[in-house]
Amino acid sequence: MCGIVGYIGTKNCIPMLIEGLKRLEYRGYDSAGLGFLDENSKPKNIKVKGKVADLENALNGNGHFSNIGIGHTRWATHGIPNQTNAHPHSNKEGTLLLIHNGIIENFGVLKKALINDGYTFYSDTDTEVLVNLIDSNYKKKEDLFQAVRYDLNEVEGTYGIAVFHKDYPDQIIVAKNGSPLVIGIGENENFIASDVNALIAHTSKVVYMEDHEIAVITKNGFKAKTISDEKIKKEIQEVKLTLEEISKGGYEHFMLKEIIEQPESLRNSIRGRLLEKEGISKLGGLSGYIDRIALSKRIIITACGTSWHAGLVGEYMLEQYTNIPVEVEYASEFRYRNPILSPDDTVIFISQSGETLDSLAALKETKRRGALTIGLVNAVGSSIARETDCGVYLHAGPEIGVASTKAFTSQVAVLALVTLLIGRRKITSPQDGMEIIKELKSLPEKVEKILQLNNEIEKIAENFVDADNFLYLGRGYNFPVALEGALKLKEISYIHAEGYPAAEMKHGPIALIDENMPVVFLAPKDSVYDKVVSNIEEVKARGGKLIAIASENDTTIDNLVDYSIKIPSTIRMLMPILNVIPLQLLSYHIAVKKGLNVDQPRNLAKSVTVE
Ligand code: AGP
Repeated sequence: MCGIVGYIGTKNCIPMLIEGLKRLEYRGYDSAGLGFLDENSKPKNIKVKGKVADLENALNGNGHFSNIGIGHTRWATHGIPNQTNAHPHSNKEGTLLLIHNGIIENFGVLKKALINDGYTFYSDTDTEVLVNLIDSNYKKKEDLFQAVRYDLNEVEGTYGIAVFHKDYPDQIIVAKNGSPLVIGIGENENFIASDVNALIAHTSKVVYMEDHEIAVITKNGFKAKTISDEKIKKEIQEVKLTLEEISKGGYEHFMLKEIIEQPESLRNSIRGRLLEKEGISKLGGLSGYIDRIALSKRIIITACGTSWHAGLVGEYMLEQYTNIPVEVEYASEFRYRNPILSPDDTVIFISQSGETLDSLAALKETKRRGALTIGLVNAVGSSIARETDCGVYLHAGPEIGVASTKAFTSQVAVLALVTLLIGRRKITSPQDGMEIIKELKSLPEKVEKILQLNNEIEKIAENFVDADNFLYLGRGYNFPVALEGALKLKEISYIHAEGYPAAEMKHGPIALIDENMPVVFLAPKDSVYDKVVSNIEEVKARGGKLIAIASENDTTIDNLVDYSIKIPSTIRMLMPILNVIPLQLLSYHIAVKKGLNVDQPRNLAKSVTVE
C-alpha cells in the first residue's frame, strides 16, 4: 500500500529518495512527500496530492542538499487523499517528521487523550496521532529512541515507520509491526524501504525488520531492539534482484512484460525441482515437514484475489492426486470465522507479495491453533515467507504490475509440484508422476506458442472496448480460470465482469444474456467439452457475443462462436496455466485501448497491507 524510503549518509539524499519512491509507484498511491534536514539542519517537509513527478516539481529549484531524509507514497486509509493528509507528518514545531505505512487502530482513543493534553491536529490521519504521541513523550523523556519505543507499546494496529528529529541530525528511527520494512546496508550510508525494489540500485545487503522491532540507524550502522527494549541480533542478507529485473525492459507496461515473461518465470518455478525418473518433485523448503503434510486429515488453502483463484485450482489438483480433502478460504473471511483447526490440518498460504495483511492475519490465527502452515510466496524474505513453518518460493521474479499475471501461473505450477510431492506418497502412480513432470516441462514452450497469438487477441479486444459487462464461464479446473479472467478485466479496464461455473448459467445468470453481453468460454477438448458446447449453444440462442479459448485441434468450435482463440493442450491439472494467458492478453489490450493506467489501476495497490 504506502511506500516508504529513507537515507542517512554522506551523499545528497533527495534524488535517491525520489528515485526510490518511483520504484514503489506500482504499489498504488494518491499522494507523495519528502522530509529532510536542510543544509542548516532545519527540517523541511514537502508533500503533494498527486504523483512522485509532482513532488519532484515541487522540489525543483530549491537546490536542497541533505544527508538525511525520508520519503512516502500514500494510499489513503484515514483521511481523503490531499496534501494535508499526505506524509511526512510533523509535530506543531515541525521539528519531528514521521512517515507511516499501516493503520493505528486505537488512534481515536489516543487522539482524545492528546487533545486533552492540549494537542491540536491539522490532518484527518491516524499517523498524526503517532507523531504527537512521540512528541509528547519525547518532551518528557528527552530521548527520542525511548520515546518512540515507549509509544509503540501504546499503539494497536500495524506500522512500518521512519522518524527523525531536528535534535538528532545523525539518526533515523524505524519500527515495524505488520507492514514491511527493510534496512539497506551501504558504505558510510544506510537506506530504508518498505520493499527491496526501492533500494537495490544502491545495495544488495539488507536487513529485514520483524514485528515489534525498532532500530536506530546512523550512516555507520544500526542498532535494533524489540519494542520491549530487549537487544536483538539482526542478520544481513544478500538480495539477488537486479535493477534490470525491476525495470520495464522496453515494454510499454510492466503488465505486458510480465505476461511475456511467463515462459521464463515458469522455467524458474520448476527449475531443479523435478526428479524425472522417480516421477516426483523435490521441494527443499518442505523437507522435514513432508511426512506430516502427507498425513494431514485436511488441507486448507487460504489467500486473496488472484492467489485465491490459484488456490481453487490447487483444490482440484490436491483432491485428484492426493485424496486429501481440501477447502479453499478467502483469508479475510477465514481469520474472522473462528476457524476449526487442529494439528492434523495443513494450511497453505498463497501470496505473491507475502505482505497481504488479511493473509498474514489468517496465518497468525492458524499458528495459534496449531495447524501446520506452508507459504507459497514470490517475494523472498517477506513476512508470510518468514512466518510460515515451511514453504516454497515461486521464483517468478519481481511482479510490478498491480494486476497479477506471472505470479498466478507460477502459483499453479508450484501447487502442481506440491501436489506431486504429496500425491506420490498417497495415490499417484509413478506413471502419473512422470506424466505430470513431462507436461510441466512442456509448459514454457506451449506458453510461448500462445504468446504468438498476441496480435490476434489484440484485434479481438478492439471489438469489446465499449462493453459494459462480461461473463467468463468454465468447468472443473477452468472454473477458477473464469474467475481469474473476470478479475483481470475488472481491475484494469473497470468493465464489470463475472466468472461462473459454466453449468451455473441456467440457475440465473443466463437471464443476463442478450446481444450486448460478451461471454468468454474456457472450452478445451476435455471430458466436459460436450457440456461446455451445450452451454455455448444456450448463450448463442440468446444472442450473446461469444469468445472461446479452445484447443488448437478443435474444428467444430469456430461454427459456434464469434471469436475462437486456439491454444495447445496439456493435462487437465495444468490447463489453467495455458487457458489464462489469452485472458491476460485480452484484458490488457482492452484496458490499453481504453487509455487506462494498466500498471497502476485506480483504487488498487500491488500489496494490500491494510484490512
Ligand atoms: C490480482 O491481480 C490483484 N492484484 C489482487 O487480487 C492480488 O492477487 C491480491 O491482493 C493478493 O495479493 P498477494 O498475492 O500479494 O497476497
